[in-house]
Amino acid sequence: MLEEQMVGSIAQRIQQELAALSHYSATEKGVTRLPFTKEAEDALVCLEKMMKETGLSTCRDHSGALHGFLPGKSEKRFIIGSHYDSVVEGGAYDGIAGVVCGIEIARHFSPDTLPFTLEIVAFNDEEGVRFGGGFLSSKALLGELKSEELKKYCDADGVSCYEAMQRSGCDPEKIAEDVWPLENIAGFLEIHIEQGARLYQSGLPIGLVTGIVGMRRFDIEITGRADHAGTTPMTMRADALTAAAAFILTAQKAAAERAAPDVVATVGVCEVKPGTVNTVPASVHLTLDVRSLDAAVRDEVVDECFAALQKAAGANDLTVKTQEKLTVAPVKMDEKLMARLSEAMTEEEIPYMALASGAGHDALPIARRVPAAMLFVPSKDGCSHCPEEYSEPEDFARAVNVVIHMLEDWSE
Ligand code: GLV
Ligand code: MN
Ligand code: MN
Repeated sequence: MLEEQMVGSIAQRIQQELAALSHYSATEKGVTRLPFTKEAEDALVCLEKMMKETGLSTCRDHSGALHGFLPGKSEKRFIIGSHYDSVVEGGAYDGIAGVVCGIEIARHFSPDTLPFTLEIVAFNDEEGVRFGGGFLSSKALLGELKSEELKKYCDADGVSCYEAMQRSGCDPEKIAEDVWPLENIAGFLEIHIEQGARLYQSGLPIGLVTGIVGMRRFDIEITGRADHAGTTPMTMRADALTAAAAFILTAQKAAAERAAPDVVATVGVCEVKPGTVNTVPASVHLTLDVRSLDAAVRDEVVDECFAALQKAAGANDLTVKTQEKLTVAPVKMDEKLMARLSEAMTEEEIPYMALASGAGHDALPIARRVPAAMLFVPSKDGCSHCPEEYSEPEDFARAVNVVIHMLEDWSE
């Protein structure tokens, strides 16, 4: 058990480091750190410095992720990490707090004392905000990404992920060189804020994640015809926004009426062109994000949304183009790793709650391939993906302490 004073100094360092990292943002309001931007590079330089000062050897991979290594007694690796990108006007904790916690865990150990090498990772582009996909580094490290695919993922300015990588000095053709030796990975662990209110409302300091929802994300382009809003009779219009409206309302209804409470559907982008008061909407760009712990329920909602869209498109003489940008199956966390964490929390006398995650995390694609676990810390008022996001530094320090305890037990 770490002494109270030590936990206090971990909390203090985490708070200071997260405050410093929050300045690497494109916006004054909240944190905006999209992949392959100057602010992302600045954050990475800062994390690299922190890792080096902690005694880790570091390297960057071709997807823009940063890795820090503490050698252990074998070729095996235990990996701890989270992402350093953010959403637009998000908070200072989502993702990057897990990287800072990982560095704090590594700080506690001397080289060659653990039964495996400790690898701390700052993943790039988990959110998928800029290019619409997500899990860029984690999928690349699992060998699940082809460089050709990266050309199909474009940002709002038409810059492809492939091109953005090249511009920032990454070589998309070399991502295959970074693939993890999966057979040598003893486990993966991610510390993350809960981003919901269950822990905060319960007053419990830690959540032990049992599983993560499966996700599907789409880009949709509905094309109709621009016409004069005053002179075009209602029966002669090809109004792209009417079909978009049917789609959005179906998404809301289809998810809400399902018995599975974890199924959610979100249309987060709706761009209307030409977007003027007196022209019939010629085209609409939408996104759809649907999630559930049950892949079949998630797929039913997706199918219902697109059936409604096709019906509305047919009735209004519209064309629809769809690109599925992300498909990830729901996962369960590794029972053995969960048992180790649970034992450490019991011995530390830290009460916790077992809960599933509605948010996506790098642990989602990773858990399908290697034993993975996650710890959540409470989010104040359940707020996340907004500037109000806040978690107590002491809660991060508790989670760090639990993982240190688990790793110490492992080496005995
Ligand atoms: C990432 O935070 C996501 O769940 O979309
Ligand atoms: Mn997020
Ligand atoms: Mn996150």
